[in-house]
Amino acid sequence: MPLDVEKIRRDFPILGRAVRGKPLVYLDNAATTQKPRQVVELLAHFYGLHNANIHRGVHTLSGEATKLVDRARGKIARFINAPKPQTIVFTRNTTEAINLVARAWGERCLKAGDEILLTDIEHHSNLVPWQMLAQRAGAKLCFVESEPDGTLSAETARRHFTARTRIFAFTALSNALGSVSPVGPLAALAREYGALSLVDGAQWVPHRPTDVQALGCDFLAFSAHKMFGPTGVGVLYGREDLLEAMDPFLGGGDMISEVWLDRATYNELPYKFEAGTPDIGGIIAFGAAVDYLAAIGFEDIGRHERLLSERLLDILRCEAEVAVYGPRRIEDRGGVVSFNVGDVHPHDVGQIFDAEGVAIRVGHHCCQPLMRKLNIPGTARASVYAYNTLPELEAFAKALRKAKEFFRVTSAR
Ligand code: ALA
Repeated sequence: MPLDVEKIRRDFPILGRAVRGKPLVYLDNAATTQKPRQVVELLAHFYGLHNANIHRGVHTLSGEATKLVDRARGKIARFINAPKPQTIVFTRNTTEAINLVARAWGERCLKAGDEILLTDIEHHSNLVPWQMLAQRAGAKLCFVESEPDGTLSAETARRHFTARTRIFAFTALSNALGSVSPVGPLAALAREYGALSLVDGAQWVPHRPTDVQALGCDFLAFSAHKMFGPTGVGVLYGREDLLEAMDPFLGGGDMISEVWLDRATYNELPYKFEAGTPDIGGIIAFGAAVDYLAAIGFEDIGRHERLLSERLLDILRCEAEVAVYGPRRIEDRGGVVSFNVGDVHPHDVGQIFDAEGVAIRVGHHCCQPLMRKLNIPGTARASVYAYNTLPELEAFAKALRKAKEFFRVTSAR
């Protein structure tokens, strides 16, 4: 069924506003998505009527807040088909979830000379925590090179596994190129070599149905704010036996069982990894975001995003002197399209788009090694979601032509 986009748009008041005197066209969904009123209202409802700290009081409000967080955890577990709610650990974001594994698994399990396998298209959040771990543990970083179109191939990846590979951490969908990874085969490869897999699902989970058991990954990290939820809430899914065996990440309240002056024992999962007061309202509102997404359904979202991505690619590929990055085949792409206009700096391109009310992201997209490989300072990037429309992409096309005119980018240049 085609998406009822107009109905969806009515849930997002921000999409009705103007920017610089033009209707807003929001195409920066890979950075963060807008929030439907169902999420915003639930947040206000929680703070208005239920606010209290969790796990800390016998009073009614604390019990209510605790139940609401438990319920949200259950929803999120079902959303990714995690076997148990306790395999869902709330963090601040994807970055913190990856750092948690690098610290809590890495410091216990990695020895000098062990290998951490990454790829050359990773976001800094799936590079730097491993660099820091490698330095501490004396481990070696190894890299799978992406194919010329920016995809990852299991065949190429296989060449980089050795008897010392302990973990393979890779993105499911590149935030800079839009390429979709063969997540199941890559996770299977790690298993075959006795290594663990960590999937950076920040750009995947909001757009594709996710079943961690079918994918066979050991860890999955993602963020609420890229899927209609609030900022400040992320998720680490981890295999239960691995989480059980790991040491805590942060120490403090709630993650303990008993504390003496000089030592402590730790709480059960998932609380062992949730020190301190979490973003209670944010977690509860994330549950509403997941409900909202599930009600629309990924089949329709996927079809709609593909339609929009095809149109975006058509617009860009029809223009002379516009470079498009990432896979040629639409099947290998998510709704993220990176481009450059002649040799104009992407920041300058972004300003022309902004003047037209069109919000895109520009820069290196936290992928400096990838930009270096492509030999460019950065890109302009449009990324779509369920509420974007084909007419909005005509505004995008107009802004693109304006940028070309303004910077006199012609094929004769
Ligand atoms: N990682 C986010 C992006 O790609 C912020 O824009």
